[in-house]
Amino acid sequence: MNKVFVLDFGSQYTQLIARRVRELGVYAEIHPYNVSLSFLKKESPQALVLSGGPQSVYEKGAPSVSPEIFNLGFPVLGICYGLQLLAHLLGGEVVPGKKREYGLAELKVIDQSGLLHDLNKISPVWMSHGDQVKKVPPGFAISGVTVNTKAAVIENKNRKIFGVQFHPEVAHTAEGKKILRNFLFRLAKLKPDWSMGNFVETKVKEIKEKVGQAKVIAGLSGGVDSLVASLLVHRAIGQRLLCVFVDNGLLRKGQYEADLETFRKRYGLKVIAVKAADRFINKLKGVISPERKRKIIGRTFIEIFEEQAKKFQDVQFLAQGTIYPDVIESAPVKGPSATIKSHHNVGGLPARLPFKLIEPLRELFKDEVRQVGFELGVDREFLEQHPFPGPGLAVRIVGEVTPERLAILREADEILLQEVKKAALYDKLWQAFAVLLPVRSVGVMGDQRTYQQVVVLRLVQSLDGMTANWYPASAEFLSKVASRIVNEVAGVNRVVYDITTKPPATIEWE
Ligand code: XMP
Repeated sequence: MNKVFVLDFGSQYTQLIARRVRELGVYAEIHPYNVSLSFLKKESPQALVLSGGPQSVYEKGAPSVSPEIFNLGFPVLGICYGLQLLAHLLGGEVVPGKKREYGLAELKVIDQSGLLHDLNKISPVWMSHGDQVKKVPPGFAISGVTVNTKAAVIENKNRKIFGVQFHPEVAHTAEGKKILRNFLFRLAKLKPDWSMGNFVETKVKEIKEKVGQAKVIAGLSGGVDSLVASLLVHRAIGQRLLCVFVDNGLLRKGQYEADLETFRKRYGLKVIAVKAADRFINKLKGVISPERKRKIIGRTFIEIFEEQAKKFQDVQFLAQGTIYPDVIESAPVKGPSATIKSHHNVGGLPARLPFKLIEPLRELFKDEVRQVGFELGVDREFLEQHPFPGPGLAVRIVGEVTPERLAILREADEILLQEVKKAALYDKLWQAFAVLLPVRSVGVMGDQRTYQQVVVLRLVQSLDGMTANWYPASAEFLSKVASRIVNEVAGVNRVVYDITTKPPATIEWE
């Protein structure tokens, strides 16, 4: 299978480059800019893309590569900082621009025989830079210009080294895909041979080779990523994969039992079931702070996993369902763009476990993981389930988590979900769930005064969970859910609807 390496210099768009290349049918992986030459030689990708980045190539300590990289015969495409870097290293000159150029510019095509083949004479492109290539390196020609940027596109066709000052990977660059296509297929002579089917095949082969006759352990969370990663490993080594699935008592009604049965019967996985609800609930006794709840749950999960892992002496590997957003949102693992955010996620197990890691999905985005899952025969319903936070219902019980309050929330949540599905809303929503508040209010039921708990309904639409809109559910729907909850769930006498967007609120209440 052909592959392209994207070397990451810290651009916010690095991941998009990899994604676009894969959309064009070529497998792409992101690596830090300072990856070693020997690694590159060993892996021998069919082409390199140098990403953008926030720095200036002439600054001290700016990220760079060995100029030797350009002598290894890889076709290279430099984007923004990548273009400036290759110009700088190959004998050109990069200087601060007269003014920063940010936003849309018009690219005027001068030479259509290479990177700009088949482009319109004038084409909108997305710029985001402060520096400019003042002098192009020897052997390079300018094939596209904008009003403010003379060297908007530079090409050395003999050496197959190309650069664009703008970002072909973002949707604002109308013909960006065409440029990437020209680079991959016309100039680097790649074949589009990447599909989810052969991703599965390649990963299965890789895992087989890596694992040999050893055993692998994996944690299942009930979510999509850990199941898909486990199924890939399972396809490679069968019953030498041991999965651990912990019942933390914080899942939705019936979810643990249903998932356990599915993992075992539907997918044939060997699953060690650890019933630990009491252990979690005991540790959460009296805890109000949402952050402390998260930490306790995360730590307890890891303790249990470690205890289980110790029972199996011949296990050498740990498989994890880490996906690309986890990689960039967690500790700095890859290139410089890795350090933008630090994220809480209880799914991640500590690296100090005495196992080598297998993370077959770490280059993929969520929708790509779903496609891999689909290839592996995972049911659509499972793949398209709403996201569920690692700490589970504990972040939907504001205040103390007790068995009684958990029971109330589970019932209310189940009613909401039933009605959401009945009204054919499930697929329209990012999430739909109930929240239990730590307040009581007065009500009247029959002739009795009541003083009971309040349930919030939260139905949101979102593309990625970063921002969200509350869903304008019909009065009829809301009324049905509210009336079922107060009638069927003992201890609740009031239901309210959350009509806040994110931001300023978050999706979960915590
Ligand atoms: P917030 O509440 O921050 O949530 O608006 C954004 C999205 O992330 C989900 N979420 C989590 N997912 N582990 C996860 O895997 C977690 O610890 C976690 N916390 C929040 C949340 O459900 C929403 O979709």
